[in-house]
Amino acid sequence: MLHSAPSSSFHHTTTLHPSPSPSLLSASSPSSSRHAWLPLRHFSFQTPPLRTHNHFALTSPKALKVNCSTSEPLKIMISGAPASGKGTQCELIVQKFGLVHISTGDLLRAEVAAGTEIGNKAKEFMNSGRLVPDEIVTAMVAARLSREDAKQRGWLLDGYPRTFSQAESLEKMQIRPDLYIVLDVPDEILIDRCVGRRLDPVTGKIYHLKFFPLESEEIKARLVMRPDDTEEKVKSRLEIYKQNAEAASSSYSNITKKIDGSRSKEEVFKEVESSLSQLQQSKGKILKSGDTEIQRTLEKSILDTKKGSGSSSQDKWRGIPTRLNNIPHSREIRQYFYDDVIKATQRAVNDGKTRLKVDINIPELNPEMDVYRIGTLMELVRGLALSFADDGKRVKVCVQGSMGEGALAGMPLQLAGSRKILEFMDWGDYGAKGTFINIGSIGAAEVEEQDDLYILVAPQNAVGNCIIDDLRAMTNAAEHRPVILINARLKDLPGSSGIMQTMGRDQRLKYAASFESCYFFRLLYYAGTQYPIMGAIRMSYPYRYELYKRVDDPSGKEKYVILSTFLERPTTDEINDAFEGKPRNETRKGSGIWGFLSGIF
Ligand code: AP5
Repeated sequence: MLHSAPSSSFHHTTTLHPSPSPSLLSASSPSSSRHAWLPLRHFSFQTPPLRTHNHFALTSPKALKVNCSTSEPLKIMISGAPASGKGTQCELIVQKFGLVHISTGDLLRAEVAAGTEIGNKAKEFMNSGRLVPDEIVTAMVAARLSREDAKQRGWLLDGYPRTFSQAESLEKMQIRPDLYIVLDVPDEILIDRCVGRRLDPVTGKIYHLKFFPLESEEIKARLVMRPDDTEEKVKSRLEIYKQNAEAASSSYSNITKKIDGSRSKEEVFKEVESSLSQLQQSKGKILKSGDTEIQRTLEKSILDTKKGSGSSSQDKWRGIPTRLNNIPHSREIRQYFYDDVIKATQRAVNDGKTRLKVDINIPELNPEMDVYRIGTLMELVRGLALSFADDGKRVKVCVQGSMGEGALAGMPLQLAGSRKILEFMDWGDYGAKGTFINIGSIGAAEVEEQDDLYILVAPQNAVGNCIIDDLRAMTNAAEHRPVILINARLKDLPGSSGIMQTMGRDQRLKYAASFESCYFFRLLYYAGTQYPIMGAIRMSYPYRYELYKRVDDPSGKEKYVILSTFLERPTTDEINDAFEGKPRNETRKGSGIWGFLSGIF
């Protein structure tokens, strides 16, 4: 398909010599449309055609004469779930900006169609909707990016990187885009788009049975469906996308532009086009200044385009604070975690959830290590309770009382005195305590008509005593009102003789599991150690579990990078696999050093 003239980026005559054309490089020629997996297109592109209209003139194969354009070529990445419209937008971008479109999906499909060794390997993965191993895809992308046309005209990388390790490979090769576009489309639309997608093997054009009606009966008769476009495979591709999306994009957060891809393709393109034009202008203006300034100006122009586009609270998220093994934590770090817990819990309560639990075990919130840390736990509870009181809710903060004889008998040591601390705490200048905030213990008798919500501080079983019966009675009495457990420990504990109480255990555990996690944060260490921190798991309702790896950058500073995300809390095997960079669902075998992580759960 011939595209219309590229725009301002390439004002002057450019002569290029065609690079050799290994089969890998066949699919993404300047004029290639996507989906060159079909034999016809594949073979027609073994030697990539070069543009011969007004912007590029082909002379002898040896000559490389570049009358440089007034601006630096654009380097763009486009990402999004399957069928979010990447290919459709890429066609339009190529037409307007003349970038070299490099689609890993197309490159792979071309290999499959040509029956190459790579294609045969990739086929099985693609047909089942899984990701093709990194080493295959990365080699393909590196080869394609290194070609002269991509260097001269700029590139549009589509569908790569899709995992954290692919993004890392690009970083190592010092390949970075100017802009990272994410097409954001809700799941239900995606499935419809995939299932209705049809491709024209002659022109490579993408159609949709419902959204883009066919131009003629002749075209209709030759249209084909992609083998991975069945509903079942689309769902699996979507799940794999979600597992990796955040990890893959984390390196580009400062240059990311999220675009609502659920609108018509013309509307979506309008926004894409405006960002790219703005970027092109910025690059043109600052060509003579240093690289750092280019980067800064680009980031600023991206930030400007982001303004007013309404980002989610996750987009504003600052990243996990570092040096968490240094105790006591600074006020800023504590506040970070309090805010994180409050936002997640508020979202869950606003969504009508009524049985919730918060699990957060940064060292500063672990009173088992040091009883004095109970103060940090109380500070978190106070922040959470006041956040609901500010909304006019009457909150009861409850700590379990003694469950046996004598002052401390039957009471976990770290909770001793905590009720007194709550009573004496500063609850703000507005007299919230006694009206919007009340302190109580755990049990049905605590539930009063005027209460709107209950926060239970670290309810836990003590040796020989089980808090669950009181807790159950309380939640039954609370009925539809939210009950939030903070750092609960509801597993049975063995008695001093090491014997576990078994009567009614199943029901107790079932009851404990009926509370839904609205916040989870846990640091990862080698089993049996508390140093060094290897990573972290975080979940903030309603988002997915995020697995982070702690890395030290060359300046000696540490940071957390996201490795993967999960719908459910990841198992130790899944954590190990992600740390080792293995794809999901690989056959388990005895793990190496990361096997030590298995002790943490
Ligand atoms: P790939 O081909 O890249 O598939 P994908 O990412 O799943 O994306 P799609 O091509 O399905 O969708 P799209 O976003 O381009 O949407 P389109 O514009 O066509 O990859 C295929 C496979 O290759 C992967 O599953 C994997 O196995 C492997 N692979 C690729 N890259 C890899 C990597 N880096 N690492 C490992 N493995 C890799 O639009 C979809 C439909 O919607 C069309 O019918 C279109 O007409 C319609 N449509 C588009 N825009 C709109 C709109 N605005 N409104 C209405 N309809 C629209």
